[in-house]
Amino acid sequence: MAGSALDRVETDKPYEALAVTGKAEASAGSPIIELAQLTKTFDSSGQKVVAIEGVDLAVRPGEFVTLVGPSGCGKSTLFNIVSGLLDADTGGKIHFKGEERQGKELLGTVSFMPQRDLLLPWRRVIDNAVIALEVEGMRRKEAREKAQVMFQEFGLAGFERHYPHQLSGGMRQRVALMRTFLFERDLMLLDEPFGALDALTRVMMQRWLLGIWQRHRRSILFITHDVDEAIFLGDRVVVMTARPGRIKLSREIDLPRPRDPHVTTTPEFLAIKADLMEAIEEESMKSFMSQDERG
Ligand SMILES: Nc1ncnc2c1ncn2[C@@H]1O[C@H](COP(=O)(O)OP(=O)(O)OP(=O)(O)O)[C@@H](O)[C@H]1O
Ligand SMILES: [Mg+2]
Repeated sequence: MAGSALDRVETDKPYEALAVTGKAEASAGSPIIELAQLTKTFDSSGQKVVAIEGVDLAVRPGEFVTLVGPSGCGKSTLFNIVSGLLDADTGGKIHFKGEERQGKELLGTVSFMPQRDLLLPWRRVIDNAVIALEVEGMRRKEAREKAQVMFQEFGLAGFERHYPHQLSGGMRQRVALMRTFLFERDLMLLDEPFGALDALTRVMMQRWLLGIWQRHRRSILFITHDVDEAIFLGDRVVVMTARPGRIKLSREIDLPRPRDPHVTTTPEFLAIKADLMEAIEEESMKSFMSQDERG
């Protein structure tokens, strides 16, 4: 794709060293992405909706940031802006690795798993996994070889030639995640990647994702409605307000890693959860009341 935004992407991976150096040094780097005063107003048939307002957020190299907030507060909108699919209102700024980027200039700089898995039903699993590589100009044969080695790690070995409808919901989500991983960028945006899973599968997927993150150590921004998930996964949990979405609070999660699933029953975990729940419930209530007013 000569001349496209994808060509501007840096291919070096200076942050991989963080896989061994860990969080303390990850914190020391300048942000991989920095959002300043991002606002987005939608105008549908003359009706203006301010989805997010004045959002400031920075993610450090190698950091795992989880984002929670009431339904409709603008989380997916924020991801659509950061991935370059949507323009923010004028006035806000985005710096990616220290360089200012706007709108479509951001396309291809991050890997993005949207809220719906968007697998193409007519493509086999392996060909769904390599779509982004093909869009970048890689030949399908080479892209398939690159993907093939990841099937084992993503628990999908033997399903390469299946079609999406032949997979379970959890497997489809792993294919979508694998596709996001194959599009190697230092920042990944994951929008409720485990949203449709039962509690047990979800816990297994969380452990598995942490394992993968610890090996590859990319920066991750992860949206979830599940507070336990947000705390268990995150170096930091960011809570958004009811719409228009602003950053309500940002809380470091200093639970040691690697994290055992039993950490969720410890007093430390429960104390963090109680604090966060209070903030989240306050915002959910506002969101609920404003829906009530609209009838
Ligand atoms: N393309 C669009 N055109 C008009 N309004 C939109 C558009 N996309 C989102 N919105 C509005 O912006 C607000 C935020 O939507 P968004 O999808 O970002 O919320 P969310 O926080 O991701 O919600 P959920 O947790 O339910 O996924 C909503 O009021 C929604 O109706
Ligand atoms: Mg959403």
